[in-house]
Amino acid sequence: MKVEIIEKAPDKNLYEQVAERIRSLIVEGTLKEGDRIPSVRKLHQQLSVSISTVLEAYRVLENQGWIGVRPQSGYYVMERNLPILEQPSEFELSKLYDPVDVSLAFRVSAAMREPDNVKLGAAIPGVELLPTAALNRIMGQVLRANSETAHSVHSYHPPQGCEQLRYEVAKRLIHAGCIVSPNEIVITNGATEALYLSLKAVTKPGDTIAIESPTYYGLLEIMESLCLKALELPTHPQEGLSLAHLEMALQQQKIAAVALVSNFSNPLGSCMSDCKKKQLVGLLERYNLPLIEDDIYGELYFEGNRPKAIKAFDTQGLVLYCSSVSKTVSPGLRVGWLVGGKYQIKVEQLKMATNWMTAIAPQLTVATFLANGYDRHLYKLRRAYQNQMARMKSAICQYFPTETKVTRPGGGFVLWLEFPDRFDAMVLYEEARSHKISVAPGNMFSPSGNYRHCLRLNAGLPFTVQIETAMETLGNLIKKQVCR
Ligand SMILES: Cc1ncc(COP(=O)(O)O)c(C=O)c1O
Repeated sequence: MKVEIIEKAPDKNLYEQVAERIRSLIVEGTLKEGDRIPSVRKLHQQLSVSISTVLEAYRVLENQGWIGVRPQSGYYVMERNLPILEQPSEFELSKLYDPVDVSLAFRVSAAMREPDNVKLGAAIPGVELLPTAALNRIMGQVLRANSETAHSVHSYHPPQGCEQLRYEVAKRLIHAGCIVSPNEIVITNGATEALYLSLKAVTKPGDTIAIESPTYYGLLEIMESLCLKALELPTHPQEGLSLAHLEMALQQQKIAAVALVSNFSNPLGSCMSDCKKKQLVGLLERYNLPLIEDDIYGELYFEGNRPKAIKAFDTQGLVLYCSSVSKTVSPGLRVGWLVGGKYQIKVEQLKMATNWMTAIAPQLTVATFLANGYDRHLYKLRRAYQNQMARMKSAICQYFPTETKVTRPGGGFVLWLEFPDRFDAMVLYEEARSHKISVAPGNMFSPSGNYRHCLRLNAGLPFTVQIETAMETLGNLIKKQVCR
């Protein structure tokens, strides 16, 4: 087996990079449990690093429980014994067909933002992973070059957003299978505004939206603000929303739209197959039903190619496609986009009425970065998230009760955990908070308050000693509840 050459990263020790590479091969499944890993000598030759660097990397991996040594035989991948979280607990039918009013207790999300917490609750990327130096430099250039012209960053611009950025977004959408012209795109203040405008464009107060269960709680907040009702549909941790249940629901009641995260969803990490995406679009066409697709994690795949968007299969303009750079480049720049399909004009009118336009300086900064440096950055970022996810799972194995079930997302950076029913995530949330750790209790992700025995954890932060200690603390708190 050939291990790719190591690119020298200035901010990391070489042995850490070697360890990271082997860990990725294990997580990706190239190296399976029980497989022999390359000998120290072989890796030293392949990577052109010293024997002591490889030995140090193997020592780290051994300490972390990834590999073990067999006398006279070499290093092997250890058994991880990670359980796979299968289908979430089935809904009772009465719950399934009763639209639920969205009313939320979002004090939890405020606690997630408390400044000195270990942030395992919110789905946020570690700022160390973001290309902040490049962005700062570009932003400076943008301000210097565009401050005094008639068309400066200080003027009003058309609501659709800057052409340069729409062009870059359209180019990137080709990788998601979407052929979209820059004119079909509206730049928004993050994916949040894209979701808001999309929902507002296709609904009126009192309408029912079919959603994944569990679902991204930000979507629920938007729905609540627009006085919409939610119909939770069973969602498989790997394959996503149940189309059979969606169709049954469509036969029985009026549904104004579907809203879901298509690739590496938050919180389940599910990713629909192309075949299922096509079937879903067929269903939308049959019922003339709009779909709001949130594809914010689509570029964060760990293996193979970028998964297609549902929008790629949409020939009738029923899909409103939403995304942003918040998980890849910078959540603070607030740059997102929306492809409105046949609702485009309505979306543009709403954008104008809401805030006229998204600030130009961040748009130009993101456009410049997308054109230059983004692909290299994304390549490294995907590896970092994959590695962090693996480290988090390893900590779960080590510190959490054996009954813990955990998802295996193929991208993104959130993990969903299920515990026996006697576990109460709200109790854990309060206890963890007193230890200055934030977690996201499962019931935040369901308007009907399901999943109180579940938890979402953020794997977007570099795995440090502080995070490992927090995971150990969480493990002990969970065991106190579960292992009575
Ligand atoms: C699925 C999903 N959609 C949208 C958002 C919000 O994105 P933005 O920060 O671009 O508004 C998030 C952030 O956590 C998310 O997880």
